[in-house]
Amino acid sequence: MKKIGFIGWRGMVGSVLMERMTQEKDFDKVDPFFFTTSQVGEKAPSYSHKESCLLDAYSISELGKMDIIISCQGGNYTEEVYPKLKDIKWKGHWIDAASTLRMHKEALIVLDPLNGDAIEQAYINGNKTWVGGNCTVSLMLLAIQGLVESNAVEWVSSMTYQAASGAGARNMKELLVQMGELHSSVANKIEDKSYNILDLDKDTQKKMHAKSFTTTEFGVPLAGSLIPWIDQDLEDGRSKEEWKGQAESNKILSGYFDSIKVDGLCVRIGTMRSHSQALTIKLKKDLNIKEINNLISNGNKWVKLIPNNKQESIKSLTPASVSGTLDIAIGRVRMLDLGNNLISAFTVGDQLLWGAAEPLRRMMNILIQKEG
Ligand code: HSE
Repeated sequence: MKKIGFIGWRGMVGSVLMERMTQEKDFDKVDPFFFTTSQVGEKAPSYSHKESCLLDAYSISELGKMDIIISCQGGNYTEEVYPKLKDIKWKGHWIDAASTLRMHKEALIVLDPLNGDAIEQAYINGNKTWVGGNCTVSLMLLAIQGLVESNAVEWVSSMTYQAASGAGARNMKELLVQMGELHSSVANKIEDKSYNILDLDKDTQKKMHAKSFTTTEFGVPLAGSLIPWIDQDLEDGRSKEEWKGQAESNKILSGYFDSIKVDGLCVRIGTMRSHSQALTIKLKKDLNIKEINNLISNGNKWVKLIPNNKQESIKSLTPASVSGTLDIAIGRVRMLDLGNNLISAFTVGDQLLWGAAEPLRRMMNILIQKEG
């Protein structure tokens, strides 16, 4: 059985990966080794019912014994350790959730329902570095896979509504704390008829702007507000998250599909989990709405086309309905009145599953199938 080293398995993406591997009985197929940056020698988790100790995540000799390493530890770890493994001419496969290596020449961005052929070819060519894509990129491409594969897309404007989970575990907790602080600031007044809604609003605004309001992680209020910037400022008007839309999408498509232009604004909202995106899509061909819906719904087996009506949209096209599932919901599909061949769509997918852990898990399985 292949020796698989896991780093960052306790973090948010790592935990979701462990959960999925357990659900799919992946641990029956591998010999797992768990690494740690801080608790070397302590008892390793027993996902595979194997008794073992945690290994040092900075030990290049221990890491070098692995056939496959899956890192959910983050970019700093990748920056430090990956080159050292390359220096010792390690022959194993590196599967990574961090963005560090995504645009490197030797790395393939993995999203196998769409770029399975590219993965196959890269494997044949000896590729060893496989990186999960940015969450919004993977979720968007899966949502419109049917349109992309039929070469129907000229450009996409993606306006995102990204959950706190995309920023990390501490940020998710901070969102809950902020919600709690806002509620506490008016809790005893909500049912009191002598306070009207504008009084309550004034009090929550005051709380939001008070020095005591918890903003350690986000720097600003998210609960009751939003943050119209994600990731670094590239100082050309774009955020790095926005830049990734075009750059990563086309790296995923390259060699097998026509390139598409992707641009838009990325916004953090007070959702716990699952990213949403409002898409405007310019089609290259004249397609009617029935043909468009058919292409979208046949894109892959995870796409769930939600009929464009109020009841089904508010029930099934939301983070609340999609979180914790592998569904890629897409709806609000209609022809826009703004010009020819322009359509709208709204899509929601779990940022921690298809947006992060699932492409890595599937890549591991592809390698196991190939190498036994
Ligand atoms: N960069 C994304 C976010 C996380 O901040 O929401 C994607 O994995």
